[in-house]
Amino acid sequence: MDTVSVKDVGQYAGKEVKLQGWVYNLRKSGKIWFLIFRDGTGIIQCTVIKNLVDPEIFEKKSLLTLESSVIVTGIVREEPRSVGGYELTVKTVQEVQIADEYPIGKKEHGPDFLLSNRHLWLRSAKQSALLKIRHTVYYAITEYLNNNGFYRFDSPILTPSACEGTTTLFEVPYFEQGKAYLSQSGQLYLEAGIMSLGKCYDFGPVFRAEKSKTRKHLTEFWMMDAEAAYVKHEGNMKIQEELIRYVIRTAIERNKTELEILERDIDQLQKADAPFKKVTHREAIDYVNSKGASIGYSDDLGTQEEDLLVEGSDVPVFVEKWPAEAKAFYMKRDENDPSIVLGDDLIAPDGFGEIIGGSEREDNHDMLLDRMHQEKMNIAEYQWYLDLRKYGSVPHSGFGIGLERLVGWISGVRHIREAIPFPRTIYRINP
Ligand code: 4AD
Ligand code: MG
Repeated sequence: MDTVSVKDVGQYAGKEVKLQGWVYNLRKSGKIWFLIFRDGTGIIQCTVIKNLVDPEIFEKKSLLTLESSVIVTGIVREEPRSVGGYELTVKTVQEVQIADEYPIGKKEHGPDFLLSNRHLWLRSAKQSALLKIRHTVYYAITEYLNNNGFYRFDSPILTPSACEGTTTLFEVPYFEQGKAYLSQSGQLYLEAGIMSLGKCYDFGPVFRAEKSKTRKHLTEFWMMDAEAAYVKHEGNMKIQEELIRYVIRTAIERNKTELEILERDIDQLQKADAPFKKVTHREAIDYVNSKGASIGYSDDLGTQEEDLLVEGSDVPVFVEKWPAEAKAFYMKRDENDPSIVLGDDLIAPDGFGEIIGGSEREDNHDMLLDRMHQEKMNIAEYQWYLDLRKYGSVPHSGFGIGLERLVGWISGVRHIREAIPFPRTIYRINP
């Protein structure tokens, strides 16, 4: 007898199989009871019929509890009315461990309760679906990059200085040097990487001591940074668009079931796989102000402004060409207007916010140094980074995708804390 996964039972119709997993639900009625069984790959109804099994097996109905771990054997039967199209007519049920009364029920629980029980909450159908979509998005991003000549390059997590400003740095004690910081983005290291590899990317956890209490901010999140030599601002946005459209297509193709469990409007998501819109920062300000916002030409876009900007748009919107003072020191100045830098933010439709931040990088040594002085940065710490502009500097660009923001949008889940297995926010580091 084969031990099989629920997702593969269709290949065993009429045969006896062994399943290993957990009790998702129990329904009992007289001479027959149902064990709704899950194993991580899917859910199947297992039917226990009194006159087909030993009395001892039939009596397991009073022993089993929700989430008990069990091994079940039986015959796979086609059953079009069942989820997944198959059922199991049970021969034996063997308990592995009888679960204590399970704290997460079918009733509504508050977010705090669920987050405190995140280790258990992960098992629920929606959370399991989200984890599978996260898996797909992660691999779709790397597939796209691998297929387009980007080498994986692992940038360090322990770093001596800031990439994205000093206000959100996490400090850790570090031997004789005294302190180090957890990485906010691997970008600066990737800029060294491309001078060796041409194109490269990293993908890992990054850390920001964000004081923001929004549903879009985590203190630990996953970022994919990509960087490419001889790619300019326009080419950079083209790569971002192709990559995101590849992720959309892949998620729809591989995770239809999961998107349905999450009640994601798949048709709406499909519509985002079309040419993205592009506006300059200045155009964006004029537009949102005409819709009732009131922000200035040197301001960053807040949540409200981002939402206004994409309202009614099926596709993500690029906001490009930002005022220098609103963006990081490394962004390249626009040739035609030195007050503008060649950065781009990609804003997802329907209020899911900024999913990508990118830019062409300043490749001129003196311009970069000048900007770093203006920002009052410690030049000595960045000498290695300035070196990259002294030994064969080239035009280059890159961008960073926030994995949880992208997963949230693809899944249609509004709160970023559900898009990562164990969310870290200013309020929570447990479990
Ligand atoms: O826009 P950001 O800050 O850009 C950078 O870090 C660049 N160095 C990336 C690069 O060019 N290689 O961050 C990139 C993305 C954002 O667009 C957003 O999706 C996500 O990371 N992000 C966060 N996600 C969750 N929680 C937070 N606190 C985030 N901060 C940024
Ligand atoms: Mg940004």
